[in-house]
Amino acid sequence: MAHGHNSKEKVVYVGDSRIRKRSEIATPPDYTSYPGKSEAFIPNFLLKEWMVGCVMLVGFLVLTISEPAPLGYPADPTNASFIPVPDWYFLFLYQLLKMPYASGDYVVLGVVGIPGVLFGALLLAPFLDRGKERRFYRRPIASSLMFLSLIGVIYLTVTSWQGYEEELKLTGTTPEHIVREEEARDRALEGLPPKSNAAKGTAEVALVAPDDPAMESMKVATCLACHGTDLKGQNGPSLRGIGDKLSQDDILGVIKNGKGNMPVMYDTAKSNGLSDEQITGIAAWLAKQKKAQ
Ligand code: HEC
Repeated sequence: MAHGHNSKEKVVYVGDSRIRKRSEIATPPDYTSYPGKSEAFIPNFLLKEWMVGCVMLVGFLVLTISEPAPLGYPADPTNASFIPVPDWYFLFLYQLLKMPYASGDYVVLGVVGIPGVLFGALLLAPFLDRGKERRFYRRPIASSLMFLSLIGVIYLTVTSWQGYEEELKLTGTTPEHIVREEEARDRALEGLPPKSNAAKGTAEVALVAPDDPAMESMKVATCLACHGTDLKGQNGPSLRGIGDKLSQDDILGVIKNGKGNMPVMYDTAKSNGLSDEQITGIAAWLAKQKKAQ
């Protein structure tokens, strides 16, 4: 018989068809009645793995949506009060490096030695622990090692986090995600739209009419020494998008009277050979520097 190996099986055809009639629902065999045999990897086991994977994925998505990841402050090399911490799952390794025998003279032990032995042992566990017993209470060595390392990791993580919170309190630092949340809440209460990332700095604002002769005049007047050759700011603020803030007259006022740390630039510009028209040209050009909407 083409369809099966059991030739004594009675085959019932449905009408004229060659399709075998199934009288019962095919139940998968219960593997406990076949000692030593296990479930077929494909498709049974794989299907179960797949389902668990889907549940995990959905759970993970829900978590990332309900608890957005804290990003931390933007990198700033001049900020000395910045408290560096790794992501939570590395806190135990981070805390390990604060232990007396894992730091200072022993730092190689802390960085390579101890984690190397622990993770190496984890990697080799399937080759070292080859007992047939599956119940954890019947495997005292493997189980106690696992519980010990679990307790160790939890202890180190908790201590590390407590140390971080202590440091935050001492330095009076508010974590970035909390500042961001409060800002967003304040904006929402005032009825303002949420702040978009694009509005953060003027650095991304493009130059309007970069070929204007005013650019050359600004070089002659030494404006660019402070405001940067691309107007992105250097010893002075960025002038990109300045037209959104100041009018042509305002800018002319800044050039003639100075502002804050900016000296009076009118005389410098004149002595470097610029005419009044060229100086007005600078102000007119800068007033045109508006953010593209
Ligand atoms: C010595 C450095 C220096 C030079 C040279 C200089 N600036 Fe400035 N400029 C500054 C500083 C610093 C500020 C910020 C002043 C403040 O707000 O306290 C500033 C502010 C400005 C502002 C106002 C910006 C704002 O956001 O309010 C304008 C406009 C400006 N400069 C234009 C010019 C022009 C045009 C020239 C050339 C004629 C020039 N600057 C040359 C240092 C300089």
